[in-house]
Parts: sequence; C-alpha cells; structure tokens
Amino acid sequence: MRKKVACVVGARPNFMKIAPILEALEPYSEEIGCRLIHTGQHYDERLSSLLFRQLELPEPDMYLGVGSGTHARQTADVMVAFEDDCLREKPDATLVVGDVNSTVACGLVSAKLQIPVVHVEAGLRSRDRTMPEEINRIVTDALSDLLFTTCREADRNLLAEGVPAGKIHFVGNVMIDSLRKFLPKSRPPAVLERLPDRSRFGAITLHRPSNVDDPSILRNLLGAFADISERLPLVFSTHPRTVTRLKELGHDEVDVLAEEGTRLGDSHVWLTPPLGYLEFLYLLDHATVVLTDSGGIQEEATVLQTPCLTLRENTERPITLEQGTNILVGRDPKAILEKLEFILSNGFPEPKIPEKWDGNSSAEIAQILAEWLRKQPGN
Ligand code: UD1
Repeated sequence: MRKKVACVVGARPNFMKIAPILEALEPYSEEIGCRLIHTGQHYDERLSSLLFRQLELPEPDMYLGVGSGTHARQTADVMVAFEDDCLREKPDATLVVGDVNSTVACGLVSAKLQIPVVHVEAGLRSRDRTMPEEINRIVTDALSDLLFTTCREADRNLLAEGVPAGKIHFVGNVMIDSLRKFLPKSRPPAVLERLPDRSRFGAITLHRPSNVDDPSILRNLLGAFADISERLPLVFSTHPRTVTRLKELGHDEVDVLAEEGTRLGDSHVWLTPPLGYLEFLYLLDHATVVLTDSGGIQEEATVLQTPCLTLRENTERPITLEQGTNILVGRDPKAILEKLEFILSNGFPEPKIPEKWDGNSSAEIAQILAEWLRKQPGN
C-alpha cells in the first residue's frame, strides 16, 4: 500500500532543506506519496514565495496560514491547524526539518496522534536554552522515530540523550544538496553594482532576537558594521524583524529598502530587502567575509570556503568551527573588529568539507525512509 508522508515547512531555512528531499523521493512515488504542508510561519513574498520559485518547489498541497505571533500563539496555531489536516489526511509519517516553531509544533501533533515523526537535521545542540530553537530541537528529537543527522557529533548528542542507535542515521547535510545544485544558477544581486569593486565586500545577516531586540546591542553592532565598512563595503540582507528594530532606532532609510541597496546612515553598509536564494548564494560565494547570526549560513560558508564571523556566543554547529571557516565572535564590537582585521591581513587556512556534505544526503534519506516505511503498518 502506498504510504503518505506529510512534509512540513514553515520558515525560510526549511525550504532549501525540503526541496532536495522531495526531489529524491520522486523515484519512490509509486510507494510514497508526499504532501507538502506550508504552515505559513513565514508568509512574505521575499521570505517564502520567492524561495519556493527559485528552489523549484511545487505549490504546497496545504497552506495553514498561521502567520506571526508569540511563541505560544504561533506554535499553538500551527498545532491546531496541522491536527485538523492530519485527522483528515491520515498520513503514515510526518517529516519535519530544522528547528523552527513549525518543526516542533507538527512533531508534537504527530506524536500525539501516533503518527511517526521523521526529523531531518536532528541532534544539533548549542546547550543554550535561552535560544528558542534549542528547545525546539530537544523536543522534536525526543518525539522522533527516525532521526537523520548532519554530523557524527549529532549522533553522539542523541545517544547521550537516550535515543536508540537504531533510530539514528548519519546522512550528511541536505541544505548542502541544495547549495550544490543551485550554485551554478546563482546570480549577482543588484546591490553589487553600487560597490567600487564587485569582488571585495562583506555580507551581513542579522535577525536573532538576542541581537536585534535590545536597542543597545543592536546599536553597538551597527557601530561595528559602520567601522568595518570604512575598510570593506558591506551588503546587509535584512530580515523583517531587523527592519522593524532599525526603524525603532530612527533609521528611516529602511522605509525605502531597494534591491539595489539603501545606505545605512552615511556608512558604506548597503541594506537590501531579504535576498532570494540564488542572489544570496552568489553573495556568500563571492564575499571576502560573512558576518551572521544564522545557523545555516555557518554551514554554507564552510562549504563555499568563505570566512564566517558568527555574532553569537555559541553554536549548535561546532563542526563548522573545527573543520570549516566559522569563528564565534559574540557581539562585542572590539572582538568583531579584531577578528575581521586578522582575516583581512592573514586570510584563512583552507577549511575541510565535513564528511558527507557532498550533495547526496537527500538520496540517502529517501532510500532509508522508503525501507523504513515498508516496515510500518499502513493507516
Ligand atoms: C524564524 C525561526 C528561526 C530562523 C528564522 C529564519 C523560530 C523560533 N525561529 O525566526 O529559527 O532562523 O525564522 O528567518 O521558529 N515576519 C514578517 N514576515 C514573515 C515572517 C515574519 O514580517 O513572513 C516578521 C513578523 O514581524 C514576526 C517576525 O518577523 O513577528 C518574526 O518571525 P518568526 O517567524 O516568529 O521568527 P523569525 O525571527 O523569522
């Protein structure tokens, strides 16, 4: 009997993870029917539809339309809507990716309905429970029946938490599958035309509440960016949360954010609206350095061999520190400037590409998932 798998996405970083998995499951379409569910956690054209088109994702089979809210409200809204969908559609498994609120919400609904949960990108741990994603990771992994990991350390984390070894499969990194597929199609964002030298710039992304919600922290970071931009022009792909905070700090220039860049004050920091996946890949690939508080970008920078200064105190992706191009710099402007100086003058030692980050992770997931589903009783 054909098995039905509910494949869940909610926020931007989910889309590049689900795309290669859906593609890898296509050859199994006689035995596995995938239903793509978009919770609507991210709903903007630039955070959602644009990426769907660029990643060649099919239209979602179901759009839950939950939108923004507090953590409890957003998680609860996803749960109520997804439960209705599960009761109607009766999937044989739910596949969730990453660590966003939609991931944990759908994992919890499924587990309570006794629908097995498959988690892709399991086992990452920052050990920092002030980070909402860490709570999402721990809970989702505890609920999951099949866990796919990106690195050996994630396996060890799961084993230490009592997850049986038989449930864990180290397959590598599906986000890197997308990166390898789409890098040849990447294209320069319009903002690069503003720069005196299109091959010499830094890239910035910043959206964590811990970096943007406290005005003094954000002001300090903006000061550091402005200082850096005296030596190296910076392109800042913004996030809606950050735009709101910039406006609160009196940066009215964000009212007219344009593709070709809007200057932050009188600095050489060029603000853009959220870039598309293809434009962002180009930016990351050609940047001298990236400054970010994202999780996934630490991994993408490692594979693209772009030095990455992570504006956080910890990371759930330590493999990018040990083998890749990532350096944790926190958010102290002095430390950020020092590390940047160091990279500009000394370059960066050649990083290693982590094991199995080779573009074949989704194919391995599809094979393991198909075998596992054959053994599951059908609904
Ligand atoms: C979410 C994820 C985070 C991920 C990030 C990538 C959680 C807990 N966080 O954070 O792990 O790194 O996505 O972007 O799941 N907003 C819009 N348009 C949208 C979506 C959001 O304007 O399409 C604004 C709203 O004001 C909203 C705020 O952004 O309140 C935050 O959105 P939310 O989905 O709660 O979390 P992110 O900060 O995007």
